[in-house]
Amino acid sequence: MPMRFPEGFEWGVAAAAYQIEGAADADGRGPSIWDTFAQTPQRVFHGHTGARACDHFHRFAEDADLIAGLGARAYRLSVSWPRVLPEGTGKVNEAGLGFYDRLVDALLARGVTPWITLFHWDMPQAVFDRGGWLNRASADWFAEFAAVMADRLGDRVKHWFTINEPQVFLGLGHAGGEHAPGMRYALPEVLRACHHVLLAHGRAVSAIRAQGKQARVGWAPHGSIRYPLTVEPADVEAARRATLGIPAGDDWYFNTSWYADPALLGYYPEEGIVRFGSLLPTGFEDDYAAIHQPLDFFGVNIYQGHPTRADEAGNAVEQPRPPGYPHTMFHWPVEPEVLYWGPKFLHERYRLPIYITENGCAAMDWVHADGAVHDAPRVDYLCRHLLALRRAIADGADVRGYFHWSILDNFEWAEGYRMRFGLVYVDYATLERIPKDSYRWYQQVIRTNGACLPENPAPLR
Ligand code: FCB
Repeated sequence: MPMRFPEGFEWGVAAAAYQIEGAADADGRGPSIWDTFAQTPQRVFHGHTGARACDHFHRFAEDADLIAGLGARAYRLSVSWPRVLPEGTGKVNEAGLGFYDRLVDALLARGVTPWITLFHWDMPQAVFDRGGWLNRASADWFAEFAAVMADRLGDRVKHWFTINEPQVFLGLGHAGGEHAPGMRYALPEVLRACHHVLLAHGRAVSAIRAQGKQARVGWAPHGSIRYPLTVEPADVEAARRATLGIPAGDDWYFNTSWYADPALLGYYPEEGIVRFGSLLPTGFEDDYAAIHQPLDFFGVNIYQGHPTRADEAGNAVEQPRPPGYPHTMFHWPVEPEVLYWGPKFLHERYRLPIYITENGCAAMDWVHADGAVHDAPRVDYLCRHLLALRRAIADGADVRGYFHWSILDNFEWAEGYRMRFGLVYVDYATLERIPKDSYRWYQQVIRTNGACLPENPAPLR
């Protein structure tokens, strides 16, 4: 008897505004920090920008057809804050807001449920110019934007995510300088920006709920998963603690609990307080109540992880991968186990239904001599990750949906158009869309609710 996913499992695809919309100057949209960053020499691969991207802004109906044609019931999209509020706050740009009206209606007309992310990194330049996340008022400005969106779309949109991957836009954008706004702030500033992001998240949740009782709200942080190489209890326990702990060193911001504990449990984790306490904004505890708003689900983006084993003291030690081990074009190792252990560890701690809000494979796909795009590695990546997820669910993890990243090839931030993540190939010269083999393969998975997945995949090596 082939194993299916649970009845009603939400099969979806994802994308984000700046990565696909283009039309950067259309209808009164204001600039975002990603426009500025991408126009700055040496920041993005070959000087690529999102100015045109996939021109989804003008081709959304065709893209909605592609999503519906896949059989996907859900589409995770993000809203461009500067398209709606060119100054970040204050005057609403009706024409910009109108785009999301049309997009939402196009999706609903095709039986696709929109799941909206409010912040997928494209902060209005005007907000950054007023201090960005370092300015405590950014939390109120973001809540204002959330209220505008919920007010306008709340009659049709029930599913919301506040922010996408605070770890990445804070870590790479505010500490490492590789992403917009390209800053390398010192630790106290990064912690302050982070605190305001959490406050913005909490205030946005309240703003969305104030607009409608039916709203279901979550967020979509990055999942930094340490997973055990064996099922020995010591290895599992070490991996769990490492997944939920804060790594030593400069890359501490790639963790879960520093963000998720205040949002979902109501306080920063003790381990972080011990380490950063004196550097935190004064009176940070007074914001706990505003940050800690009930959520309906825990979205998480998981692409890769760290295989570990416990040492004699019970600490997780990362294990080397064998030479020649498969990696995607991002040099991310292919580790389907992350979709087994990740949801399990996160659900145990935060007790919310889990949605995989992103997972996918970077590759250099091209149009083959027969006119088709044969992306066998993506098919295999997807297959293995879904098998792991199905096993996690069978073993009790409460996972309700999966959004593949991405429906279309798109602007991959600092990597520009160098690598492709889509189920649909985009010819950036003509903007033609060509569904890849993976599109048809995922279509089958959705149609059979996972029953077509193989039972015994050959191990990766
Ligand atoms: C995530 C981002 C998403 C996409 C994927 C590949 O970190 O949320 O926009 O770029 O990585």
